Amino acid sequence: MVQDKSASERMEKIVSLCKRRGFIFQSSEIYGGLNGAWDYGPLGVELKKNLKDFWWRRLVRERDDVVGMDGSILMNRQVWVASGHEQTFTDPMVDCRNCKARLRADQLAVKDGKRQCSVCGSLDLTEPRAFNLMFKTFVGATEDESSVTYLRPETAQSIFVQFKNVLDTSRQKLPFGIAQIGKAFRNEINPRNFTFRSREFEQMELEYFCRPEQGLELLEYWLQERLRFYADIGIPSDRLHVHKIPTDELAHYSGGTYDIEYDFPFGRQELEGVAYRRDYDLTQHQNASGKPLAYFDEETKAHFVPHVVEPSAGVDRTVLALLCDAYAEDTITDDKGKAETRTVLRFHPRIAPVKCGVFPLLKNNASLVVKTKEIVSELRSHMAVFYDESGAIGRRYRRQDEIGTPFGVTVDFDTIGENGPAKQDTVTLRDRDTMQQERIPISELRQYLSAKIF
Ligand code: GAP
Repeated sequence: MVQDKSASERMEKIVSLCKRRGFIFQSSEIYGGLNGAWDYGPLGVELKKNLKDFWWRRLVRERDDVVGMDGSILMNRQVWVASGHEQTFTDPMVDCRNCKARLRADQLAVKDGKRQCSVCGSLDLTEPRAFNLMFKTFVGATEDESSVTYLRPETAQSIFVQFKNVLDTSRQKLPFGIAQIGKAFRNEINPRNFTFRSREFEQMELEYFCRPEQGLELLEYWLQERLRFYADIGIPSDRLHVHKIPTDELAHYSGGTYDIEYDFPFGRQELEGVAYRRDYDLTQHQNASGKPLAYFDEETKAHFVPHVVEPSAGVDRTVLALLCDAYAEDTITDDKGKAETRTVLRFHPRIAPVKCGVFPLLKNNASLVVKTKEIVSELRSHMAVFYDESGAIGRRYRRQDEIGTPFGVTVDFDTIGENGPAKQDTVTLRDRDTMQQERIPISELRQYLSAKIF
């Protein structure tokens, strides 16, 4: 895909801000890094956690019909044989005979009817061959075929193989879902676009089990639910697109799939898949394990294997979409009429890593500092706050704007009653986006902010 210059500059600025402000670092950076692996720094981990917590709240806590689980990353190899991953979880790979680059065949441009190397432009490439994306490992002390297993390439399979245990212990009735958030690993041929295509990443997956006749309707229902979720974390609907996978491109077991795509600076790309997988996975595991995974219908007294609708989202991709969406550069004019550029991350308050910056107007005034620290300790157990006393107040606001903190509280001489009782025990509350300030009693602060970030 050809990227225009301003889009690639924007992406470079986002990557650089992520490093500079502690959102995302290259893994093992001091040793030259590891391609396709990333570490989340102090702000990145908060952002990611807020996203995962909100997903969990929406999909598990706020519903009667979904329960959670947390499966292991290592599983019996037979899981991956039965699911089809050992045989078919592959991407087509080619080698460039000229520059020796190893490339994904389906992502290359075609010139004169031939695939073209994206590194050196050569047309002299090998024929595509299937490359399995699973990371192989050995369990125990012997490294032979009998001890082989894989790091899981998706979280979904542990849900399928625990279906019966969860059903028997949770007393759920169809339709109901099992949700999981966790790490997945894929040995991608070309990790790229920052964290977008990584080799280690996290997924948020729901397997929603149902009767066969409910599948198609639930596919539509979950698509709408997931779009509502993205709106509620602040991603505008005009940057999201629903791509319906054409029937002739669907997997043989699929009853329909939607991709939810986002307009990243590097192009429109998948954030999440919402797929109706019929009874494929449970049937495969039932046949391979010999253990019944059917559901007993109390009313009809019949046993049947449930069908499933699967909304499967990437944590890292959604974090990247949130960062790309939030990044803005405003031109603002200071008190002296001088124009300057303000970099701001306009995160929805719900997912912003820090909710409120709290500042004494001056750091060398003990009364201001004491009062500010009282406010910090009052707010701290309810939300992530940041105390900052260094530098001019404008610069402190700017630093918080750059990491997306939606609110700033300043304790000034009015707060401590130096200008009379009228404004005593009130603070200024600054809004990151409008930069407007209002005065608010300290006693109302916690409730006011809590309502905004919920
Ligand atoms: N269980 C179904 C499943 O895993 P998928 O479309 O392969 O479906 C689901 O993956 C989501 O996981 C994707 O939409 C994407 O958000 C995320 N994902 C997949 N591969 C990824 C990678 N290499 N790096 C980052 N996220 C990835």
